[in-house]
Amino acid sequence: MCGIVGYIGKKEAYPVILEGLKRLEYRGYDSAGIVLYDGENLKLSKTKGKVLDLENKFAEEKSTNGSVGIGHTRWATHGIPNDVNSHPHYSNSGDLVIVHNGIIENYASIKQELLKRGYTFTSDTDTEVLINLIEDVKKNEKVKLGKAVQIALNQVVGAYAIAVFDKNKPNEIVVAKLGSPLAIGVGDGEFFIASDATPFLEYTKKAIYLEDEEMAIVRLKKGIKIRKIKDDSLVDPYIQELQLNLEQIVKGGYDHFMLKEIHEQPVAIKDTYRGRLLVKEGIIRMAGIDDNLERILNANRIIVIACGTSWHAGLVSEYIFEDLARIPVEVEYASEFRYRNPVITEKDVVIAISQSGETADTLAAIKLAKSKGAFVFGVCNVVGSSIARETHAGAYTHAGPEIGVASTKAFTTQITVLTLIALKLAKEKGTISKSEFQHHLQELELIPDKVEKALLQDEHIKKVAETYKDAKNCLYLGRGYNFPVALEGALKLKEISYIHAEGYPAAEMKHGPIALIDEQMPVFVIATKKGHYEKVVSNIEEIKSRSGKIIGIVTEGDVDVKNLADHVIEVPETIESLTPLLTTIPLQLLSYHIAVMLDKNVDQPRNLAKSVTVE
Ligand code: F6R
Repeated sequence: MCGIVGYIGKKEAYPVILEGLKRLEYRGYDSAGIVLYDGENLKLSKTKGKVLDLENKFAEEKSTNGSVGIGHTRWATHGIPNDVNSHPHYSNSGDLVIVHNGIIENYASIKQELLKRGYTFTSDTDTEVLINLIEDVKKNEKVKLGKAVQIALNQVVGAYAIAVFDKNKPNEIVVAKLGSPLAIGVGDGEFFIASDATPFLEYTKKAIYLEDEEMAIVRLKKGIKIRKIKDDSLVDPYIQELQLNLEQIVKGGYDHFMLKEIHEQPVAIKDTYRGRLLVKEGIIRMAGIDDNLERILNANRIIVIACGTSWHAGLVSEYIFEDLARIPVEVEYASEFRYRNPVITEKDVVIAISQSGETADTLAAIKLAKSKGAFVFGVCNVVGSSIARETHAGAYTHAGPEIGVASTKAFTTQITVLTLIALKLAKEKGTISKSEFQHHLQELELIPDKVEKALLQDEHIKKVAETYKDAKNCLYLGRGYNFPVALEGALKLKEISYIHAEGYPAAEMKHGPIALIDEQMPVFVIATKKGHYEKVVSNIEEIKSRSGKIIGIVTEGDVDVKNLADHVIEVPETIESLTPLLTTIPLQLLSYHIAVMLDKNVDQPRNLAKSVTVE
């Protein structure tokens, strides 16, 4: 959560930082601020609201000169979103200024100490405490800024990516990282600092990703010096060549990133299986699995850990792994797993799923599993992310940047990767026949075209959305492979339209939720031909006899559900294990259209952030 951007070089810093912050708004968008140094003074402007509000504020009251500066877009942790709590924060002398992504957990005790020494605080943030601690160390120990940052960070508990600037040392920015991501873009006589590489893509493709417990002094003339925060040892900078392109991070003619990303799914799924799914040869090639095959095949069980939508993809994989590969699977919320003293052994394989690769709970759960000797395999989208680096092996989803806060293509590409893994293990274990295996490969290869076909229902889905946009509550039902899709459909609706929605296994309805059904209740039922179809049709009858409104997600050509439902949305036919890749599509589009019709901010829903780097 929170995005930070910094610039030091020959250019005007303001447009670089401002545009960079806009790209990082997926990380938080409840307030924003920028501080610039114009050669004499620091000029700081910050405000509650979005980066656009900050831009308007700068336009009104501040000049924007200066070739060094740092900026921030916030997702509030300590202190409500308001102007004062927005970053950057000054130290008491007004010389030092900081932006911070993360949480300083022991800020209260440090604040008490600083108060005793006469420091005052204007905000409720932990960040203002940190910058004053740095100032206090600098003054008392008579050290330079870099050293002061290092000493101060050795006193704090928590997570951070920070950028600190001292107006008396205008040729350098000090940055540090623990738990939250931080990249340094290396240009020609200029440096960029950002939470990810997107803010500096058009300026340089050379990036250094700081590791946890590393800090860097970024100097205009002398370059970058990286040190370990704990023992002060020097680290050789590892400069990576970025593979990202600018076109991948713009809306490309769509009204919203979410809509663009929904429509990107045919290509994203293809990119995910490209080079891995070799239908003619009848093989699946995945280096991360091939290199660790014995360990994975000999596992007692697979434990899947993830959060949110990624957790839903994990639930889908439970069905695939157990059904095809006959490996017992447990799917855990990372946040619960990490705190409940779980039984893990060296015989367990953990699969951690995360789009961003930065989710704090998932990262902590991985560390816990590793400490117990489990083998941890990552399924991430963001290349080089913390989770990708922390896991023993892994497979990227290759979905391309997902910027809309509501996850769409990440979900379907995660399912694609997990399906490939399950099929590969099933083949190795001999739990799937040769012909069945080949049939799965062929069907998987057809999925992108079928997703494309499902997307053609868009206009019809828009009309269905119009009918139900004013609902106050909605139910989503599915069985088997499509139960997690029901959960995901409900999550999509609530997070972007703020309509209360719940997902249930269809048969669970009679154990409670059926009491909610009346003529006001739209019930979205996934009722594809493969997968307990008759049972789901019976569930639909039960809803109908209680006057609920039924919207069926059905297989092309369906008759039975059509006769019962108020609306149906068709998806192409496929084998049961692959239906989630198709049934998800109309539910994503429905949520999208409802949110747009309700005039909600689709790409930046309230209270949410794309990358949840706090627990
Ligand atoms: C929902 C959504 C979140 C994320 C969750 C995990 O649309 O985006 O529920 O799925 O925060 O994020 P990652 O996958 O980045 O670990």
